[in-house]
Amino acid sequence: MNQSTLEVTIRQETKDDQPEVYAINTQAFGQEGEAMLVDRLRKTPSFVPELSLVATSGNRLVGHILFSIISISDGNGNKVESLALAPMAVKPEFQQQGIGGQLVQHGLNKARELKYTSVIVLGHEHYYPKFGFLPAEKWNIQSPYDVPSSFFMAVELIPDGLKDVNGMVQYPKEFEGV
Ligand SMILES: CC(C)(COP(=O)(O)OP(=O)(O)OC[C@H]1O[C@@H](n2cnc3c(N)ncnc32)[C@H](O)[C@@H]1OP(=O)(O)O)[C@@H](O)C(=O)NCCC(=O)NCCS
Repeated sequence: MNQSTLEVTIRQETKDDQPEVYAINTQAFGQEGEAMLVDRLRKTPSFVPELSLVATSGNRLVGHILFSIISISDGNGNKVESLALAPMAVKPEFQQQGIGGQLVQHGLNKARELKYTSVIVLGHEHYYPKFGFLPAEKWNIQSPYDVPSSFFMAVELIPDGLKDVNGMVQYPKEFEGV
């Protein structure tokens, strides 16, 4: 299928977008948990406004992605800053047209521009590798949640962005219970 049939623009979310971002997350996930998570994260120091991105087609919002600051802690007092990609949502009727891919790619580029060095994602093991994500166990990075290791992935935004980084990811407490 042809990705060029739908013109999509990716830009930073504005305050006015927030209700529609809530609706898109609710529709895509079929529940309000992720939408509420986004609302909660916006109020924390983990929130990076430049990394809350929306996809628009014409004057409609069709997708959203958020990257929040997390840390990776090795248990010996060494803490390294990273980003979590979560959540990401595309309106159901606009899925399977590459919009999610554009959101991920745009977000990774922006994160690199902002000098972040890595991103962690908990997600589909067949989807994220196309953007360079590899199982985080490659770097000995663990999830605090009990998930299959192939679903827990990381990508370096610069060469050796995760060199000598290992340990447990610490998510903002707002993620609990989602
Ligand atoms: C996950 C999600 C954001 C992906 O959005 P999307 O816009 O459908 O993503 P893409 O179109 O980039 O990729 C989806 C698939 O369509 C394929 N695709 C990409 N462009 C395409 C095109 N032009 N035509 C047909 N298929 C296409 C991709 O190869 C991909 O296939 P895969 O499943 O084999 O990897 C969306 O499905 C969603 O909102 N799901 C519910 C919420 C969720 O689970 N979020 C992720 C966890 S945080």
